[in-house]
Amino acid sequence: MPARRLAPLVRPITLTLDGAPFRAEAGETVASALVAADRLVVARSPKLHRPRGPACMVGGCDGCLVRLDGVPNVMSCLVPAEDGMRVETQNVVGTRTTDLLRVTDWFFPHGIDHHHLLAGVPGLSTVMQGIARRVAGLGALPDAVGHPLASDARDVDALVVGSGPSGLAAASRLAARGADVLVVDDAPRPGGSLRALGAEASAAFHARHPVPPERVYLSTVAAGIYAPAPSRAPGRREVLLAAPTGAIVVRPRAIVLAPGAHDGAWLVPNADLPGVLSSRAAALLVAGGVTPGERVVVAGADAFTAGLAGRVEVERVRLEEVEAVLGSSRAGGVIVAGRGKLRADAVVHASPREPRFELFQQAGGAVRFDGRFLPEAALPDVHVAGEAAGVAFDLDALAESGVAAADRALAG
Ligand code: FES
Repeated sequence: MPARRLAPLVRPITLTLDGAPFRAEAGETVASALVAADRLVVARSPKLHRPRGPACMVGGCDGCLVRLDGVPNVMSCLVPAEDGMRVETQNVVGTRTTDLLRVTDWFFPHGIDHHHLLAGVPGLSTVMQGIARRVAGLGALPDAVGHPLASDARDVDALVVGSGPSGLAAASRLAARGADVLVVDDAPRPGGSLRALGAEASAAFHARHPVPPERVYLSTVAAGIYAPAPSRAPGRREVLLAAPTGAIVVRPRAIVLAPGAHDGAWLVPNADLPGVLSSRAAALLVAGGVTPGERVVVAGADAFTAGLAGRVEVERVRLEEVEAVLGSSRAGGVIVAGRGKLRADAVVHASPREPRFELFQQAGGAVRFDGRFLPEAALPDVHVAGEAAGVAFDLDALAESGVAAADRALAG
């Protein structure tokens, strides 16, 4: 059994990374399969060509972007692995582990303004433009032209954005009260951060807050909330959904926003290296049977770090005593104040997460900054629940927040 698998593969499949085969469990995400196979570096960042790899496992960091079956910039943490998938690294000049354009990091350690480099110098500016495009681009065009997708529109009583604990609790309450409710989530499986707590906790929560599966649209992004269009449905906002089948415009009477929270940014040198994961990402991996590494430094503590011990060899440090992450192309440990170097092959940090306030703000809701952005005042038809509303990650508190938002939506 590979060192990063907690259990033998049940439904083994084979994918390739830059032509080299690796094994995976059918249905796990492509990013999880890459981590399990110890293929951590999957791309280079635009411009400085720093190595990139999965860091959040929830579609929030773009570290896991790969070219998948000829399609560029696919978030591999949101795609279930299938036999024969062709994964290719992006933005690499050279090999996945040795990218020649990494030299920009040495020559321009404080950043590079490629837009103006040599601009205006006859001849050279044209050459420089070509180089700049190569350095700063993100992926290459797809192998084939895609086909136009369908579009659809539908009216519902309530739309719930997010199928994490608060979204499920809200949707369950709405459905129980007879509302025509639709839940959307960009992940291929429901549950959001709940999944990071393991199968048992997830199953128990789903049993307490049941939502008919046909009411949950997965791999579907709530891309924007727009003002009511009087000619179509007076008084109802329009929400644009990007679904696997195409665009869906939903016109709900009420919206419950439960998108959860972003991973907190960890502001220490080299925290962007592959092998550095948020605590939620590490817990999601472990819940799926994959360890983030064989020896892991865990910086800080939260609801997600608790479950790592016992599954993987863990060394704990306080978040604030880490001075830097060690490594050049992938994390090799941390430097701890007063203790020096602590070697590891993965680094997990429990930085405080940030509420996802963006959709609420786009709907016209006011937010305030209080060390983090939070909704300030409710909108009559848009209700925020869970971590997006500043609730701490506690299942009971999140469920209560979801139910309360559902009740406000029903009363509105
Ligand atoms: S976006 Fe996929 S790991 Fe962060």
